[in-house]
This record gives sequence, structure tokens and C-alpha cells, in this order.
Amino acid sequence: MKRIVILTGAGISAESGLSTFRDSGGLWERYRLEDLATPEAFARNPVLVHGFYNARRKAAAAAQPNAAHHALARLERDWPGEVTLITQNVDDLHERAGHRRVIHMHGTLTGALCAACGARWPAPPEMQPDAACPECGAAATRPDIVWFGEMPYDMDLIERHVGQCDIFASIGTSGQVYPAAGLVLQANAAGAHSVELNLEASELSGMYEERLEGPATRTVPDWVDGLLGRR
Ligand code: OAD
Repeated sequence: MKRIVILTGAGISAESGLSTFRDSGGLWERYRLEDLATPEAFARNPVLVHGFYNARRKAAAAAQPNAAHHALARLERDWPGEVTLITQNVDDLHERAGHRRVIHMHGTLTGALCAACGARWPAPPEMQPDAACPECGAAATRPDIVWFGEMPYDMDLIERHVGQCDIFASIGTSGQVYPAAGLVLQANAAGAHSVELNLEASELSGMYEERLEGPATRTVPDWVDGLLGRR
């Protein structure tokens, strides 16, 4: 039975009202990522970095999953083969749409991490820079987010799934951040059928065999219906 791997990015949550990074008006147009999304930025100014992620946690909690998140949860439930969902997103909209297994390669807003001992626990709505780690007591509490210069989570697991898949789909990602952007090359090398679902052409459009252009709330339910033979 066919194995499907799906990689999602900020574009899938755009119609839920969450900002993307690189579109016009996106987060990295309004803020400098060097000030907010690196370990050095956190060491320099933890108050600023926590403030940024506290605001994003609040926005994500107020957002609702959209038709694209729901369609992927339906695919996971109804596809007779394996569906592996890898997301670069730190929101929890896939889970709240009912998706059961989600690999968060760039971490989650709902998680807190101790930079001193590696302990993890659920993040409170507002994280404080001087909060003590519940395990070791160090005041080294950070959001459980993978920053630039850090290794994304679960890369071994991700590469194993991508290397064995029959269908590889990327949804709502600009293809500018590696290693996520390179997964399509690995899928192609493994002989998978690759499909890009995006609002517009991305950096890596030429690497995909098939392209479905348009808003995710339209293209993703259509694509899922096609796979499940309901169109
Ligand atoms: P980007 O903001 O780079 O790209 C979002 C993509 O979604 C663009 O190609 C848009 O055209 C597309 N898009 C926008 N609205 C859409 C819609 N309604 N339907 C379909 N597509 C839409 O976001 P990512 O590729 O996810 O990492 O960014 C990758 C990583 O860069 C993020 O995980 C984050 C960021 O810096 C870290 O913070 C480590």
C-alpha cells in the first residue's frame, strides 16, 4: 500500500490567520530573524525573544484549524497505507484538526525546554525568562523551538520515512529553509511522485513532478478527495 509523506509550512496556517514568514507583511519582513530566532539572540535578550514567542503562542491559541488541516487529518484516518506528516510549523493546528501523529521538526509553541538540562514540559501561555526549570531549577527556560543554527528534531526518522515514500507532498512552504527544503530531492531520488501545493511558485517548484497552485483551503481538500477517490 502506498506510503505518503507530507511536509507542511506556514502557508497551510495562513488562512487560519497566522502570519507566514516570507510573504509580503510576513514575520521576517516585520522583524529581524537574527534578533529573535537564534540561540545568540536569546542569550543577548531573552525578554525580547520570549515576548515574540508569547505573542505567537497567544495568536496560535486563538486561531482555528482550517479546511486544509482537516483534510489532512481525514487522509490520515481514511488512507489504507501509511501517512507521515512532517510540519515546520510551531502551531498545533494539525493536532487540533484531529491529526494523531505529527512530527514537529522545528519544535512547538506549546512546549518549554530547559537549556541547562534538556527537560521538557508544557509551556504556560506566557513564558517568563527568569522562570525556574521544574527538573533542575536553573533559570534557563526557553521555548521548545528550533532556532537558526540548531538541528531540527527527528531528522533520522524524517529521512527514513522520506527515503521510503511513494508520494511526497509539500504544502505552503517557500522552500528556503534547509534541511526541510531538501527533502523533495531525497523523495525524488527514492522514486516518489512529488507534488507541490502552494499559493504561487516557490524556490523549488522545478523539483516537483506535479504542481497545484492556489490557497491551501481549496487545493488540499481537492487533492485529498482525489487520493481517496471521492472526486
Ligand atoms: P514561508 O513564509 O517562507 O513560506 C510560506 C509559503 O506559503 C510561501 O511560499 C507562500 O506563497 C505560501 N502561502 C501563503 N499563503 C498560502 C495559502 N493560503 N495557501 C497555500 N500556500 C500559501 O514559510 P515556511 O516555508 O514555512 O523556521 O518557512 C520555513 C521556516 O522558516 C519556518 O519553519 C521558520 C522560518 O524561519 C524557523 O523559525 C526555524
